[in-house]
Amino acid sequence: MNVLILGSGGREHTFAWKLAQSPLLSKLYIAPGNAGTAALGENVNIKADDFAAVKSLCLDKEINMVVVGPEDPLVKGIHDFFLADADLKDIPVIGPQKAGAELEGSKDFAKEFLFRHNIPTAAYQTFTSENLEEGYAFLETLKAPYVLKADGLAAGKGVLILSSLEEAKAELKEMLTEAKFGAASAKVVIEEFLDGIELSVFVLTDGNNYKVLPTAKDYKRIGEGDTGLNTGGMGAISPVPFADDVLMQKIEERIVKPTVEGLKKDCLPYKGFIFIGLIKVDDEPIVIEYNVRMGDPETEAVLPRIKSDLLDLFQAVGEGKLNEKTLELDPRFATTVMMVSGGYPEAYEKGKVMTGIEAVEDSIVFHAGTKLEGTEVQTNGGRVMALTSFGDTMNEALAKSFANAEKINFEGKYYRTDIGFDL
Ligand code: AMP
Ligand code: GLY
Repeated sequence: MNVLILGSGGREHTFAWKLAQSPLLSKLYIAPGNAGTAALGENVNIKADDFAAVKSLCLDKEINMVVVGPEDPLVKGIHDFFLADADLKDIPVIGPQKAGAELEGSKDFAKEFLFRHNIPTAAYQTFTSENLEEGYAFLETLKAPYVLKADGLAAGKGVLILSSLEEAKAELKEMLTEAKFGAASAKVVIEEFLDGIELSVFVLTDGNNYKVLPTAKDYKRIGEGDTGLNTGGMGAISPVPFADDVLMQKIEERIVKPTVEGLKKDCLPYKGFIFIGLIKVDDEPIVIEYNVRMGDPETEAVLPRIKSDLLDLFQAVGEGKLNEKTLELDPRFATTVMMVSGGYPEAYEKGKVMTGIEAVEDSIVFHAGTKLEGTEVQTNGGRVMALTSFGDTMNEALAKSFANAEKINFEGKYYRTDIGFDL
């Protein structure tokens, strides 16, 4: 099979690395890809949300499957675009159709879905500029801290957690009436604050059957001890040690099953990943958010632990036969440490030469924001490169990732040395 992966980050390099191991694969294309994916297939310089260009590529390269990495093309309806096109409709797309992608594309839609299907989640109400005063009144009924969420996609920046009522009211006003997050904050979800420890659960579904993939925990803040600005993610651990059988059974019965059943009941065709952001409060799992794709850098820790042929699983997703497959996992810990450009997540420079990559031993190098200039690997983004390692314990795996992070050099290199500190 010829497979096209859409996207350019560490997540997509990990997909490429995993799919390249499949005997079912003929040729792999990645659009646009990075310096890491270039070694596993052919990078094609088109944007993942340029549907016309994706179509030409699929026809030109006789693509048999499309794997969508980021949420943007899904929320914009790339799967529907394929189904509606006579030349593309038989090419399976891994990723939900537009209606199902609203689970990530609209926080209000996700909350309505959760309540409709009795899936545990925080109490909430949704407001627009029309009922700002009611929003203030709702805030007054809640206790600090206050959680405000822009309804639409805001590149991971649309959630604000505020310690005072005054601040919360001011931010609500700015989001609704001054388009703080553009059109994404034309609606705002105000939510009850939940105090607990977070984990993520990943599900692969054909819309009917599902497999629960390894759990992971990511580290979103730039600074040690989970301080400072939010990033896309600075590292990940899989499995999550506190996700024992008892908790996992609750998650499957109360959250995963009703989610897949709910998609069916609501007639939301869904072939792809569901990334469920959870928080454990006391011993109970509660949903914080849905994403309709894999996480980054969670993918870099989760996929290496899957021993089964991922392309075979994807084929079964396309055919609606996921129930016929088994999921084999590596029991060891996988840990991912992300190296980033100095300044990230604020302004940073690109084009820094990277050295020492060939010295890495005992870790898998997943490129994120990199590019090839001749034979030179250069930085090309904020999150530059992820190092994933295995170990029988979390600390054994982490020690390898940290040791290898020392060997790679580029001007302004930074990484967190405390990934997993809270576990
Ligand atoms: P989200 O984009 O919905 O995942 O929110 C981003 C982050 O905000 C989450 O990973 C949590 O750390 C935090 N968060 C979101 N909702 C809540 C909530 N209701 N209570 C506490 N923290 C939350
Ligand atoms: N690491 C969080 C995300 O991919 O959304």
